[in-house]
Amino acid sequence: MNMAVAKHEKWSSGFTFLLAAIGSAVGLGNIWRFPYVVGENGGGAFVLLYIGMVILFGIPVVMTELLIGRRYQMSPVNSLAHIGQDKPARRLWNALGWSYVLVPIGILSFYGVVAGWTLNYVVKMGSGALTGVDATTVENTFNGMMSDPVVMIFWQTVAMLITMGIVARGVKGGLEKAVEILMPALFIILLVLVAYALYAGDTSKAMDFLFVPDFSKLTGRSVLEAAGQAFFSLSLGSGAIMTYGAYLTKDISIPKMSCGVAFADTLVALLAGLAIFPIVFAHGLDPQAGPGLVFVTLPVVFDGMPFGQLFGILFFLLITFAAVTSTISLLEPMVSYLEERVPHMRLKMTFLAGAVTWAVGVLAALSLNVMSDVKPLGFIQRFADKGVFDLLDYFSANVFMLLNGLMIAFFAGWVMKRTALLEELGLEDSGLFKFWRLLIKVVVPIGVGLIFINFVTEGWLMDSLEGLFNGAMAG
Ligand code: TRP
Repeated sequence: MNMAVAKHEKWSSGFTFLLAAIGSAVGLGNIWRFPYVVGENGGGAFVLLYIGMVILFGIPVVMTELLIGRRYQMSPVNSLAHIGQDKPARRLWNALGWSYVLVPIGILSFYGVVAGWTLNYVVKMGSGALTGVDATTVENTFNGMMSDPVVMIFWQTVAMLITMGIVARGVKGGLEKAVEILMPALFIILLVLVAYALYAGDTSKAMDFLFVPDFSKLTGRSVLEAAGQAFFSLSLGSGAIMTYGAYLTKDISIPKMSCGVAFADTLVALLAGLAIFPIVFAHGLDPQAGPGLVFVTLPVVFDGMPFGQLFGILFFLLITFAAVTSTISLLEPMVSYLEERVPHMRLKMTFLAGAVTWAVGVLAALSLNVMSDVKPLGFIQRFADKGVFDLLDYFSANVFMLLNGLMIAFFAGWVMKRTALLEELGLEDSGLFKFWRLLIKVVVPIGVGLIFINFVTEGWLMDSLEGLFNGAMAG
């Protein structure tokens, strides 16, 4: 193993790190998924549950990934190889490092396609293609984009080129510059949209829905759903946070940064709810509209509102900025590994990693239209109806992401030396440290293990538990 590798650049300050890490965490998961998952799980009670999960699962694992990244200040591959080299099951930790750079590439391949849709919609909104039209036209516009391979690949290519252009310029010249502009812009746009929604929409209904808890609406499933959403929303198990941790200088407090990232990520998710639900309720729409909400329902609604086109443009800019600050953090783990292999070739390595990801993404895009009959794992019954896009989502953004999170908590909790943990976290051997260690040793592996089993068995676990529970109640 070649350990004499080039040193990576470091973040200029804790604040720029925060902007970048929040940029990674804030994405479609906050703006698009969180509101509709809240909708499906009955509102306020789920919000509380979600906050609980961020504290119990999210923050401890963010701390874990950051501290592992910063320990040897290398890419996940070499960080884990280094820390695991004299430990039992060395091979397993090597493999985990690889998984931590391959999962983000898997996610980026299809996330880049979706980032392309959002770019396309900024232009559509701006050109007036979604103004003064009826609901059917809006729906046809979306379906038209989905069925047109040329348009979709064009915008995916633009999204990937923007991502590569930023990453190629390095940590200080690329990532920092991008998040210093995009993140403040994102916050301002979000606040403007919230103000507009509270003014023009049905505020009291939205407030009730988001903040008045009705615990009778919670099910066992909501608990797993909340934990899974917290995990995904904080970009855990997928390389970004660990790699960004490798660029942290030793003087920065990992526990403080972790709380900062979790707080801001949750705040943005709640604000996104406040930007969307007042409008949804004002038009008597279903808060559970699900995936179609952003690209079909909202454009129809904006069109009927004063200054709708302007706010429509702002809304899609918001999602685009959120997407780009995430895509750069998805490419960075692999680039940081390649830089260690071939020092001083960041530009070439960025384009190599980007081009491969782009090519896989093209297959994902095509699987939504001209290649919709191609089911690569069709010989396995459970995957019979999944195309390339769905498979990438299934394995990278779910299966391996959860496995990574489970394994990393286990690794830090049971394999790493306690002194190393204390040193990186900068904590005294205090009650707080003991609590964190208990969480990653026991609570996180069991919790994430349950989410994982429930996911791969398609809800079987939860169904059986609910069956047992109802049986017990009836008996
Ligand atoms: N957190 C992102 C969101 O909420 C999604 C995501 C998961 C992600 N893992 C990631 C983004 C890794 C960047 C890097 O949309």
